[in-house]
Amino acid sequence: MGSIQKKPHALCLPAPAQGHINPMLKVAKILHSKGFHITFVNTEFNHQRLVKSQGSDALNGLPSFCFETIPDGLPPPQNPDETQVFPTLWKSMDETCLAPFKSLLTKLNASSSPVTCIVADLFMGFTLDAAKELDIPEIVLWTSGVSALMCVHEQNNLLERGLVPREASSVLANDHLDTMIDCVPTMSGMRLKHLPSFVRKTSPGDEYMLEGLCLQAERAKRASAIIFNTFYELESDLLDALSSVFPPCYGVGPFKLLEKESDESVEFIKSNLWKEENTCLKWLESKPKSSVIYVNFGSTTVMSHQYLLEFCWGLAKSNCPFLWIIRPDLVDGKSAVLPPEFLEETSSRGMLASWCPQEQVLYHPSIGGFLTHSGWNSTIESISSGVPMICWPFFADQITNCWWCCNKWEIGMELDTDVKREEVSKLVIELMNGDKGKEMRTNAIDLKYKAQKACTSPFGSSIVNLGKVIHLLQGSPS
Ligand code: UDX
Repeated sequence: MGSIQKKPHALCLPAPAQGHINPMLKVAKILHSKGFHITFVNTEFNHQRLVKSQGSDALNGLPSFCFETIPDGLPPPQNPDETQVFPTLWKSMDETCLAPFKSLLTKLNASSSPVTCIVADLFMGFTLDAAKELDIPEIVLWTSGVSALMCVHEQNNLLERGLVPREASSVLANDHLDTMIDCVPTMSGMRLKHLPSFVRKTSPGDEYMLEGLCLQAERAKRASAIIFNTFYELESDLLDALSSVFPPCYGVGPFKLLEKESDESVEFIKSNLWKEENTCLKWLESKPKSSVIYVNFGSTTVMSHQYLLEFCWGLAKSNCPFLWIIRPDLVDGKSAVLPPEFLEETSSRGMLASWCPQEQVLYHPSIGGFLTHSGWNSTIESISSGVPMICWPFFADQITNCWWCCNKWEIGMELDTDVKREEVSKLVIELMNGDKGKEMRTNAIDLKYKAQKACTSPFGSSIVNLGKVIHLLQGSPS
């Protein structure tokens, strides 16, 4: 009891989606390893999903790593496994969560270990009001690449130059989409079509998303710092440029590599909303080094049945061993049904699962490439493992992440949005066996070593930045 009282106490609040809970849990574990008492806050709905997928033991935590919940303000979905619609959920939380969040703080502050600092997702900007009232420091976590936040920051500039539309749902002409963005030095080489879809406002929902993000980015200026799941050497220009308009922007990742140094006592705490199928790791053991293409489109991508078929037959035609994760809700409106002929033809070299321990899969020596939707977590996890990618971005920041992988870092090849089986097989063969694939693998391995250096060498950039962040969380000026 006595030792807990002396510890700084960080309250960690992720945005309530898989791609946000995972990196926040890693940050929490890293802080725990540095002597912080942790309270990790999920929404009630996600807490129930986590209990179901991970078992209640994982959510019981430890005396120094506790879980709490707040309501998300929405009526419970009919299906307890449903992936909630993020913009609706976010809007609801932004409007309703400050009061329950403050009540939670009051409860915790009446205990023997009052909260001394907050780490919240940038989407959860209401927390800054609570931090201010209590006069405690708050650090904000941006879970995507730095370039996506730069695009949000620059959107007024892009609007004023008439590059992006004022109205949502405007359809930009193709030649306009090819316009170079030369007004932002850190984006040189990018064309309009490479901006996150919410900045280009390709659908009505994007307007709310962008407006909300701009508001949250503005609020984040009151934080002590913004942290990113990246490392300085990967996105140095962007981090430097943003640090001149926001509070200090620190790359303290890849979190996975820093987390590796953390204590084993919290290893059992997991954050997957779906139950992992670990049998795929055993299957990978039977495959030669760098021979398997890993296919996974993350937690939110929903594709048409036709696209599913194009991926099926593209993978079949490539003749390459594959591990393909098909989430129960991957296909639009129904569960994914794969053609029996495909299953028969690929049974000796294909493995299917509904969810997997992705980081372990990517670290497995049998994995030679990753066909991904380019979510930021998947991108940085692939970089940490030295695995080159085929990118099939679906929406939002994924489009920008893909551009950086394919054009700046040269560790990815882009697959056309309107996916065709011939192109899938061509790119898989090139990635796994071609000269371009070889070059990309060399580049990816080079970045992996740089990431390791940032996270493990005594003056590595992420280690140094983590020290600064801890300093700020302890209430010391930067
Ligand atoms: C969403 C957005 O799509 C993305 O653009 C944004 O950057 C973050 O939020 P998501 O679809 O969840 O991301 O993809 P991603 O960012 O890649 O995160 C998925 C996470 O789930 C990763 O940490 C990955 O390791 C994990 N995962 C995914 C698994 O552990 N197993 C799986 O089978 C699939």
